[in-house]
Amino acid sequence: MPEPSAHPRVLVTGGAGFIGSHLVERLLAAGGCVTVVDDLSTGRASNLDAARSEHGDRLEFVHSPVAEAMPRLAGRPFDAVYHLAAAVGVRLVIESPAASAERNVADTAEVLRLASRAGAATLIASSSEVYGKGVRSPFREEDDISFGPPTVARWSYGLSKAIDEHLAIAHAASTGLPTVVTRFFNTVGPRQRARWGMVLPRFVDAALAGRPLEVHGSGSQVRCFCDVRDVVGALPALLARAGRGHAVFNVGTDVPISIIDLARTVVRTLASPSPIVTVPYERAFGPGFEDLEVRIPDVTRVREAIGFRPAIALADTVRDLAAERTRGAEAAA
Ligand SMILES: NC(=O)c1ccc[n+]([C@@H]2O[C@H](COP(=O)([O-])OP(=O)(O)OC[C@H]3O[C@@H](n4cnc5c(N)ncnc54)[C@H](O)[C@@H]3O)[C@@H](O)[C@H]2O)c1
Repeated sequence: MPEPSAHPRVLVTGGAGFIGSHLVERLLAAGGCVTVVDDLSTGRASNLDAARSEHGDRLEFVHSPVAEAMPRLAGRPFDAVYHLAAAVGVRLVIESPAASAERNVADTAEVLRLASRAGAATLIASSSEVYGKGVRSPFREEDDISFGPPTVARWSYGLSKAIDEHLAIAHAASTGLPTVVTRFFNTVGPRQRARWGMVLPRFVDAALAGRPLEVHGSGSQVRCFCDVRDVVGALPALLARAGRGHAVFNVGTDVPISIIDLARTVVRTLASPSPIVTVPYERAFGPGFEDLEVRIPDVTRVREAIGFRPAIALADTVRDLAAERTRGAEAAA
């Protein structure tokens, strides 16, 4: 085990990404020394600008794929590891299913090996996609899981995350490594990009530009959107209790909204003239795409474990996302 340090030494993979960069800020503000490993495949170095300008002396950035960085960092005395790097999102996975699934699983195995050498408490980021087609609602951590067939690329993201969870739990059982798995539901907020098909930034960008907001399917699908600043607040608290009690936690809000109502909320909040239009799934994702009608987490476990109660209202998230986009556009002009 590493010597205790005045500043906890923390490794964050995917720390230049959307959720990771907010987590890094939180960890630095709490006094940690943070090493970020990120290949910038979907993240951005600029996501760490605020962290660097406030706490640059305690932030190390390793611009590298996880697979190449892990051997180089092996033997470092990390106290905690947050593994967030992944090929994220259904659209990206549909575009390159083999590379995404291989990378997600192999990287998690490498990270777990490094963490157990360091004796570092470890958090593995998972996803509501592990619930697959969903056997009942709301989704509980111990539910059975049902996926579509492996011939449908869409399921490989959820399946690869489910294997990550198996790896983490089996590793913890065999090594005694304190480990926790967080199943994120839809997480939204500043720094999330529309490029990979994420719905809220897509809507906000369209509303700001006066373009139509494109709702896939009928818009009756129900989701729960939690602000990233609420989500990252839960992660150190969950890591602190890793190895005691449950290993897997849903993380998000259980306040449901349909996608068509989400579009209406964006238009109303930003006073946008944009129309809302529906686009068939086939046109958005190709033939045979299956989506879930309702995705709501049961958040009893995380609430009881750490008193998690998201506080940021969806309209505030929309406003903050829009303000960030407007500042970015002004800076680029
Ligand atoms: N945003 C959500 O709503 C959501 C929902 C469920 C699960 N998650 C999970 O949360 C984690 C973070 O997601 P996010 O939304 O911040 O996405 P993101 O794409 O912004 O973050 C992922 C980061 O990992 C980096 N990365 C990807 N592959 C890498 C590799 N092989 N080596 C090094 N860096 C790599 C990317 O450049 C990016 O910075 C992921 O594990 C994702 O599966 C997110």
